[in-house]
Amino acid sequence: MKIGVVGLGYVGLVTSAVLAEHFNSVTGIDIDKNKIERLLEGYPPLYEHNLKEYLVRNKSRLTFSWDYNDLSGCDAVFVCTPTPTVNSRIDTKHVEGSCRAIAKVSPDSAIIIKSTVTPGTASKIRESTGLTVISNPEFTREGSAIMDTEKPDRIIIGGDKDDICETVWAFTGSPVLKTTNENAELIKYASNAFLATKISFINEIANLCETIPGADVEIVATGMGLDKRIAPYFLRAGIGYGGSCFPKDTQALLGFAEDKGVDLKIVRATIDVNNSRINHAIEMIKEDVEKMGIKKLCVLGLAFKNGTDDVRESRAIDLIKGLISSGIEVTYYDPVVTQDIRGAELSRSIGECVGSCDAIVIASEWNEFKELQNMNVTKPVFDLKRLLEMNYFKHYRGIGLWHE
Ligand code: UGA
Repeated sequence: MKIGVVGLGYVGLVTSAVLAEHFNSVTGIDIDKNKIERLLEGYPPLYEHNLKEYLVRNKSRLTFSWDYNDLSGCDAVFVCTPTPTVNSRIDTKHVEGSCRAIAKVSPDSAIIIKSTVTPGTASKIRESTGLTVISNPEFTREGSAIMDTEKPDRIIIGGDKDDICETVWAFTGSPVLKTTNENAELIKYASNAFLATKISFINEIANLCETIPGADVEIVATGMGLDKRIAPYFLRAGIGYGGSCFPKDTQALLGFAEDKGVDLKIVRATIDVNNSRINHAIEMIKEDVEKMGIKKLCVLGLAFKNGTDDVRESRAIDLIKGLISSGIEVTYYDPVVTQDIRGAELSRSIGECVGSCDAIVIASEWNEFKELQNMNVTKPVFDLKRLLEMNYFKHYRGIGLWHE
């Protein structure tokens, strides 16, 4: 098929690469000319596992452009433009603008909305453009986006005239749920809000564990996860969820429901708990900083999680800023991010980072940080993601672990 993809962020680029891998001819459009130039030179503008290999391997079936006219004649165009949350409400101007532009240049294409949009958005766009508008929310995680797109747990398709979307994704062999646009749109929000709720729930249990001698949230979560109804996923306590999706989507869902006169109390509590995580971690660290006379901390991990260079809503950055405001010096290291943070010092390796500090803070789960277990570290370790085995360290303090 001839497929268009509008918006070449994580979702759009990965969708383009995977659809080209499965023999579609793909035209990717983005208004950012720099991004298009980089892509035409063969460089992906972001880090995602396997993305570069996919782009290189399928370059004969991939074209990139900033000109919407190049979409003319596409069978379907995926819309993957951003939907920011502004004042707790979703802003759909990018999605609506893309759809209007597609309608002008390719009025026979079906529009497939991948962007996360509140219920009613697709129907509104259908009314205003007169095009076929299908909702096909994405559930991929950054860091494993290619794998998730190749073999998703499920494919949700909303709207009538949905056959084209089912055909595009047939290669995945994944279960398909066909429904209305509105259900498809809400399934995405409800899924993200539910996963965020699991995280905030286990973070509250972590707070409780810290007050009970002998308690450890890791063991509690493992025990809970053995129950098939609960499942072990998204029960890792830490400094809260970050990234471009959960913080934005939980707020947008809450605001959307509020406008409908519905108070989503659990989602509200989930957000509140998440917002309290950084202060909680800083308080925990400060107790020992004072006791042990620690002056400089090394923070390992800067992106919002391991496996990505995305720093949007990164809890690690909030943590570093909070530590600096508390008068603590900070040096930091991330395997793929080299962004400057005012008032903190960037290290080029774990060794350099660890060597120049009095104590170590783990802020994301890169496997390479486990090297610390073989480095005979005698400095105190604050494990905010419960990545390390505590037995390797003399002074170890972990989130959700009782501490004298
Ligand atoms: C999330 C969802 O997992 C995807 O299904 C969805 O498609 C995507 O949002 C989206 O809406 O586009 P992503 O933001 O890439 O994907 O990252 P996750 O792996 O879900 O992690 C989100 C945050 O939660 C990270 O900060 C992570 O460190 C944190 N987290 C995750 C925990 O603190 N504990 C956990 O047990 C799991």
